[in-house]
Amino acid sequence: MKILHVVGARPNFMKVAPVHRAIAAYPQIWQILVHTGQHYDLNMSDIFFQQLGLPAPNINLEVGSGSHAVQTAQIMMRFEETVLKEKPDLVLVYGDVNSTVAAALVCAKLGVRVGHVEAGLRSFDRTMPEEINRLMTDQVADYLFTPSQDGDEHLLREGVSAQKIHFVGNVMIDTLVRLLPAAGRLWPRISSDLHLKDQRFGLVTLHRPSNVDDPAMLAQIMTTLADISHELPIVFPIHPRTRVRIASYDVQIKENGNMQLIDPIGYLDFLCLQQRAKLVITDSGGIQEETTYLNVPCLTVRENTERPVTVEQGTNILVGRDMALLREETQRVLAGASRKGTVPPLWDGHAAERIAVIVTGLG
Ligand code: UD1
Repeated sequence: MKILHVVGARPNFMKVAPVHRAIAAYPQIWQILVHTGQHYDLNMSDIFFQQLGLPAPNINLEVGSGSHAVQTAQIMMRFEETVLKEKPDLVLVYGDVNSTVAAALVCAKLGVRVGHVEAGLRSFDRTMPEEINRLMTDQVADYLFTPSQDGDEHLLREGVSAQKIHFVGNVMIDTLVRLLPAAGRLWPRISSDLHLKDQRFGLVTLHRPSNVDDPAMLAQIMTTLADISHELPIVFPIHPRTRVRIASYDVQIKENGNMQLIDPIGYLDFLCLQQRAKLVITDSGGIQEETTYLNVPCLTVRENTERPVTVEQGTNILVGRDMALLREETQRVLAGASRKGTVPPLWDGHAAERIAVIVTGLG
């Protein structure tokens, strides 16, 4: 049996790693790792392969950046050739990026079975490119692996047959559980490099078009962060998209020595910072889940989330685009009044093993 994994963007890498490892326990399965090249910078891609212990991709489609249509079409054209040549029995796609939907569509048209890892999540906000990717991918997938039970409910409501849906838990948490000790060992170096004290800093990431592609919104966010940093020093690893926007809009960053804007960092470094942070401010999807697992307060700068368990059971609070609310919730955390969360069911470090049993048909 030949299984082909498709990944392309940073958040895919920590999801494929545990699934690749779990399937490697079955020597009779031949695995091929395809990187679409959607993300290509060293610190957006290669560093993750090294730190996660992933083998180098067998195939790199080298599509690079482009508009949604160009990027998706390029992946489809190049991936179709790969599928015709490799003739996999099953293709696994991950998350909700353009690489995910492009590969799933190619498989559906060629009649190759496809499994979607992290199926069923819905923000119900179709202005998000990821929501379109999730809806399309789930419609054509043959196996739908959900991280939380709300995913099963959404899929059933959309007419997906119950036999295709498998509630397996969260593969990203598998990676977190495995690598948390290694990440923890980096703290002496990182705290010294960035002059940080345990529980005495805020960690920020922002890259959603809804926040960073709108100059007025980006300026408001940066001003608010600069104000917060007077009370809580901030570390902000900047996504390339955000870096370009800050430069091109000439967004004023109030320099006060307490806000460090640094280049994107590796998985282990980021995990180490999350674990030691007093507070995380983000618009990422995965970070909402990681902070819930780590029981670290998370303020999400979005109006909605496709990961409602992080709000209902975890430590996540949606502040939307309301900067007054962001300040207020930050004060609440600083006053020690943050809510304690619980870890959602099956976020236990074994989701990928459950996927491996299902796709291989081997117990
Ligand atoms: C993509 C995903 C998003 C995910 C994010 C994580 C889609 C639709 N979006 O968004 O869901 O949360 O990845 O990072 O798939 N760039 C570089 N170097 C790189 C990659 C990108 O400089 O290695 C720059 C380019 O200017 C590019 C821009 O970042 O145009 C955006 O990259 P792109 O892959 O289009 O989307 P992301 O914003 O990264």
